[in-house]
Amino acid sequence: MRITLGVTGGVAAYKAAELARRLQQDGFSVQVVMTRAAREFVAPLTFAALTGQNVITDLFARDTSGSANLESAVEHIAVAQRTDLLLVVPATADILAKFARGLADDFLSTLFLATAAPVVVAPAMNVNMWQHPATRENIEMLRARGVRIVEPGEGYLACGMTGQGRLAELEDILAAVRDALHLKRDFETETVLVTAGPTCEDLDPVRYLTNRSSGKMGYALAQAAARRGAKVILVSGPTALPAPDGVQFIPVRSAEEMHKAVLASFSSCTVAIFAAAVADYRPAARHAHKMKRTKAPLTIELEPTPDIIADVARHKADRLLVGFAAETDHLAENARKKLAAKNADLIVANDVTAQGAGFDLDTNIVTLFSRDNRETPLPLMSKSEAAQRILDELVRLRSLPHTASASRRSAG
Ligand code: PMT
Repeated sequence: MRITLGVTGGVAAYKAAELARRLQQDGFSVQVVMTRAAREFVAPLTFAALTGQNVITDLFARDTSGSANLESAVEHIAVAQRTDLLLVVPATADILAKFARGLADDFLSTLFLATAAPVVVAPAMNVNMWQHPATRENIEMLRARGVRIVEPGEGYLACGMTGQGRLAELEDILAAVRDALHLKRDFETETVLVTAGPTCEDLDPVRYLTNRSSGKMGYALAQAAARRGAKVILVSGPTALPAPDGVQFIPVRSAEEMHKAVLASFSSCTVAIFAAAVADYRPAARHAHKMKRTKAPLTIELEPTPDIIADVARHKADRLLVGFAAETDHLAENARKKLAAKNADLIVANDVTAQGAGFDLDTNIVTLFSRDNRETPLPLMSKSEAAQRILDELVRLRSLPHTASASRRSAG
C-alpha cells in the first residue's frame, strides 16, 4: 500500500525520518512530501535515501530555464489518486490551519484537498500554540471531517516549555496508520455476501433496460471484507471491473438471475450487503427477434422484478442485513422507511445527485442509518474508505446484545 508522508516545519521533523524507515520495514511504499519550512530542519536527501523515491518539495518543478513544467503542475492530482493514506508528521499549527480552511498554496495543502484517501495527522508544537483557540477550532473542524488526529504527548518541549505538544510516540502513529488502513482481520469468522453493479433487463436480443451503476461501491465492499478476513461471495451484474482477489465471483445479468444467485448463497452467509442497483421493473415480454421500427408509437409493458432483499429478509435469523438507498430527495426519511420495510440492520443512503456521490465515481457521500436509531453522516471519501466505515459499523452492530451468536457467525 502507498503512503504519502507529509513532513512540515517543526523540530520533530527528524523523527519523521525514523517513521519513514519503519513504514518501509512494514512493507509500505512511502512517498515523502516536504514543505519549505520542513527543509529548514531536515534535508530532502535524507528521506530520498531512506525511501528510495524522490522527495516532492514544490508544487511546480522547474526546468533549467526556470519555467514550471506541465507534468509537475498536475502531479498533486496523480499523487492524490495513487495514495492509500496521507500521513502528516509532524503537523504544524500552520498546516492544520491550511487543511481546516482549505488553503492550497503548496504541494502538501493542495494534495490534502485533492485526495479522497484517509488522512492521519500527528501535530507537534509549542504548548500555547496547541492550546490556542484557533488551533483547537481547526483540530475539531478536521476531526469532524474524518481526519484522524494522533494527539501530541506531554513533556519537555524543544522550545524549553513543558506541556502538551510533543510529537506522539512513533508506535502510536503506526497504530493509527494501521487503524486508518483497516489492516485488521476482524471478519475472519464471517461469510459476506455482496451484490454489486447494475442489472440488465432484456427487451430483445439487442436492447435492454439498465442503470448507471459501475459496481465500484459493491466491489469495494467485497474487497474490504476479503482483506479483513471474510469469506466473500460477490454476486455482480455486468460491470467493466475485474473480480477482486480472493472472492467467490458469481456473474449475473438480470434481476431474476441475481435473485436466484442470492437465494442460493444466502444460507451460507452471515452478513449480506445489497449494493447492487437492481432494476425495479423489466419488460413483461422478451422478444426473441430484434423489434422492428414502425411509424406507430411504441408502448412497452413493464412488470416488477423480485424484491431480493425483501425475499431473503424473511429468512434473516441473526444474519446482518445491509441495504443501500439511492435517493434523489428526502434521503433520511426514505432511508428510515427502507430500514424498517427491508428488516435491515443498516441502510447506507447516498444522495446520488450530490457532487462526488453515487453512480460510476470513485468517491461517495453516505449516511449510515443503523437499526439502533444511530445516524452516521460520512463526508466525501473514496468508495474503499466508505466500505471500511460500513464494515466498522457492522462490527459495532454485531456487538449489540441481540444479534450475533457464535454458531451463526461460523456458518458456511
Ligand atoms: O455501482 P456504483 O457506480 O459504485 O454506484 C453505487 C450505487 C449508487 C449503485 C450504490 O451506492 C447504491 O446506492 N446502491 C443501491 C441502488 C438502488 O437500487 O437503490 P434502491 O433505493 O433502488 O434500492 C434499495 C435496496 O434494495 C438496495 O439495497 C437494492 O440493492 C435493493 N433492491 C432493489 C430492487 C430489487 N428488486 N431488489 C433489491 O434487493
